[in-house]
Amino acid sequence: MINSSTSGTSNTAAPQSHNQGTTNKGILDMNAFDHHSAQSPAAKRRLANQGAAAVLFYQQPIEMVSAQGAWMQAADGTEYLDCYNNVPCIGHSHPAVTEAVSQQLSKLNTHTRYLVDVVDEYLEALKARLPAELSNVMLTCSGSEANDLAMRVAMAHSGARGFIVTEAAYHGNTALVTDASPSSLKRGQLPDHVVTIPAPAKSYYAADITDPQQAELAIRQGFARDVQRAIDTLQQRGHGVAGLLVDSVFSSDGIHTAPQGFLADAVAAVKRAGGLYLADEVQPGFGRLGSHFWGFQFHGLIPDVVTMGKPMGNGFPMAAMVTRPDLLADFCQTTGYFNTFGGNPVACAAGLAVLQVLKQENLLANASQRGKELKQGLLQLAREYPTLAEVRGQGLFIGVDIHNASGQPCASTTKHLIEQLKQQKVLSGAAGLLGATLKLRPSMTLNDREVDFFLTAMRVALRKSTID
Ligand SMILES: Cc1ncc(COP(=O)(O)O)c(C=O)c1O
Repeated sequence: MINSSTSGTSNTAAPQSHNQGTTNKGILDMNAFDHHSAQSPAAKRRLANQGAAAVLFYQQPIEMVSAQGAWMQAADGTEYLDCYNNVPCIGHSHPAVTEAVSQQLSKLNTHTRYLVDVVDEYLEALKARLPAELSNVMLTCSGSEANDLAMRVAMAHSGARGFIVTEAAYHGNTALVTDASPSSLKRGQLPDHVVTIPAPAKSYYAADITDPQQAELAIRQGFARDVQRAIDTLQQRGHGVAGLLVDSVFSSDGIHTAPQGFLADAVAAVKRAGGLYLADEVQPGFGRLGSHFWGFQFHGLIPDVVTMGKPMGNGFPMAAMVTRPDLLADFCQTTGYFNTFGGNPVACAAGLAVLQVLKQENLLANASQRGKELKQGLLQLAREYPTLAEVRGQGLFIGVDIHNASGQPCASTTKHLIEQLKQQKVLSGAAGLLGATLKLRPSMTLNDREVDFFLTAMRVALRKSTID
């Protein structure tokens, strides 16, 4: 069993047998570098300015000066293929967003208490991509605010306060959401009204099952069973069930997308208990999966509440909570909601440009195609290098479990590989409860040459990791 005093995830509904002998990683720790090794004046300056809260990637942090498409340029002239950042979904510095933002900013930018055409144009364009029943949209500035509101809507509707989340979930940074983000906790425990369940990982639910169909069944049934246990725990504790809050692809848990639709039984159990299904689309939303615009569609489900953010404005800060009118009305009976910057016209202009470019440039189809190529290339490398223990994901959202020479999931091997990839001019990151999953989320504009560039870099990085 893990050491619950340091993991912060002791409120589990199931034993965590996949963690044996290893240390859980907080979401901000796993990609961060040791503060004390800061060498460059720029890194020292940042640490002086941000103090203990500073989080910088890489052993020697990169000073970035510009970015276009799938590439980022550093101050020393190095060009990096960005396979980490999922915010610039239509590519860094897309001219359509720059133009839309500039035009709107030079014309009008204000809060949502006036009628401004571009705001409703955006809300309608967004709703056209969502199930018809989810017809009320509250625009916010961050995914954290959107999830905070989603949780409050769920509590108002259910009259309960219990939430079920996955062991390494991250849903944001407000006090309410931090309580439901085990990955944020550095020590201590989650509050009593939040119960965690293991990520729907094959390595947990179906490690010894060789038949693929049996393995899929085991994940689906096992995950639903653990959700039911969490429901029972919350009810025994007297909290009731307000909701199941899950990232549709379980990003910070290590990216778990298979088998398609496995979430349905778990959601049904939560509904029976009076809770809501809150789909956190902050990472998978806006077409990254290629096959579907939203992750919940990949599961064939219609959530009660959907939250979104990161790629929504391609870097312009904007986010949203979307729900049914009856649920929002329940919430608004007791509490009002206003967000000064949420839904400002400039954000809406950016969001509109993103939706248009996704369509005009056919980027979902591209994400599907390039995702397949990346996965095939990674699977080929996995046959040669056992370091790559499992390759999974959907579209351009890919996770690769990294094992050390003893065949164990290993955060330091993952970190080392990420550093080696940086040497090969590729930006990547880590995810998962143990920080032992390589996380890849390149721009949805990725082309075939960039796929080749990545795979060549990966081969060199693996060779060097093996030798080092
Ligand atoms: C799944 C998920 N939900 C919510 C959030 C919070 O979004 P924000 O950082 O915009 O507040 C994040 C941020 O990383 C996230 O990954």
